[in-house]
Amino acid sequence: MENKGRILIVEDEKSMREVLKILLEEEGYETASAPEGLEAIEKLQQDIFDIVITDINMPKADGFEVLRKVKEMSPSTMVIMITAFGTAESTIEAMKLGAYDYIHKPFKIDEIRLIVGKAIEKKRLSEELDLLREKIGTRYRLENIIGKSPKMQELFRLIPKIAQSSSTVLITGESGCGKELVAAAMHNLSPRKQRNFVTINCATFPEGLLESELFGHVRGAFTGAVYNKEGLFEIADKGTIFLDEIAEMPSSLQSKLLRVIENGTFRRVGGITDIRVDARVLSATNKSLPDVIAAGSFREDLFYRLNVIPLHLPPLRERTEDIPLLLEHFLRKYASDTRRFSPEALRLLIKYPWKGNVRELENMVERTVLLSDREVIIPDDLPDEVFRAASPVSPLPDIGDAGVELEKIMEEIEKGYLLKSLSIANGVKMDAAKLLNLSFRSFRHRLHKYGIK
Ligand SMILES: Nc1ncnc2c1ncn2[C@@H]1O[C@H](COP(=O)(O)OP(=O)(O)OP(=O)(O)O)[C@@H](O)[C@H]1O
Ligand SMILES: [Mg+2]
Repeated sequence: MENKGRILIVEDEKSMREVLKILLEEEGYETASAPEGLEAIEKLQQDIFDIVITDINMPKADGFEVLRKVKEMSPSTMVIMITAFGTAESTIEAMKLGAYDYIHKPFKIDEIRLIVGKAIEKKRLSEELDLLREKIGTRYRLENIIGKSPKMQELFRLIPKIAQSSSTVLITGESGCGKELVAAAMHNLSPRKQRNFVTINCATFPEGLLESELFGHVRGAFTGAVYNKEGLFEIADKGTIFLDEIAEMPSSLQSKLLRVIENGTFRRVGGITDIRVDARVLSATNKSLPDVIAAGSFREDLFYRLNVIPLHLPPLRERTEDIPLLLEHFLRKYASDTRRFSPEALRLLIKYPWKGNVRELENMVERTVLLSDREVIIPDDLPDEVFRAASPVSPLPDIGDAGVELEKIMEEIEKGYLLKSLSIANGVKMDAAKLLNLSFRSFRHRLHKYGIK
């Protein structure tokens, strides 16, 4: 039988100690025991336990001392106090000191099973969370970009390399999938990182203003130009300039942009002298530039100049493995450390199409933690649209004269979910089983049934 966890039993009455030992070993736990506090503390120094169950009144060191020692030496160990009836005060005291729960004497077997089972589950969960956090801290993160899907991991490998060069990069991808984040990472990982990273959204300026923003102007160039003004290209000298929504760049400015990219020179609006800059140009769009070119509003030669290194960010629905990680990341950003999504809620969120990509997901987390104060966020706490998206939309196929093969249809559905959960869980069966709310055994049985490896 698998070992479900290690438990130290501290109890001065021998018969009680024995009962607990037998019961817990039957449940699959490994046990050790001590007849009083000092011996217990000695055992704690030599060994690591998941749970300590301790009586309160004992000779030499009492239950409170054991509790204090555990919290000091092994804070993640769960402590369950054994209390006699009529000792409510010491029970409250114990909870304040960090005990997880208490059981009353005389014991009720079911109560013990339940409390110990819950304590172990809680401990495992917090260990899993720690592990996940550790991973977000390193392997699954590049600068501020989070992701574990193969597509994102590939980008994590590419970005630091691309950052070393000064070639132009065109970042494409749907709205909210992290284009600006990638541009910033590219700058921060580059030899230019000590210099400026300037960004400008080409869609938010009227034509004339955009030109003077990008290239600056000289005094008297137009009404209101009372001073000489530096443009963003000058500010980005030896650094990086990020041109967001590049498809919206007015035709009149496209040739000027082409020139600065080709030979590093331009003139301020109204200026007569050439200014030389060395700015790395990154640009982004959520449109298809070839389509915009075909429609006649973007210069093809400029496109090739901007697109020396193309970088595409996949939409979130094509990398659902990243969803649990991103949820965890934003939960930590907007809420306390211990809040989490229930498995059912997680399932709905993985299924949701996220048309607004990571931005939409981030906003959803922020809103949800604000509106609900449950520790574990359940489907009820999620926005309506998440529910609507999850409800089965495809109507049942008609039953024709030949009838339908119900068994076969159900098997196909089952198989589909098994494969999907495995892919989301990166092949870790334990996690995949959780996504389907199945026990590990039952999950494994089903894999067997369909010959899935
Ligand atoms: N992989 C990621 N990890 C962590 N945060 C992310 C990730 N992708 C996007 N975000 C966050 O989502 C939000 C939107 O990202 P960003 O602004 O980079 O998207 P975008 O592709 O530039 O969108 P748009 O086309 O609408 O400008 C930001 O708050 C960003 O921090
Ligand atoms: Mg953007």
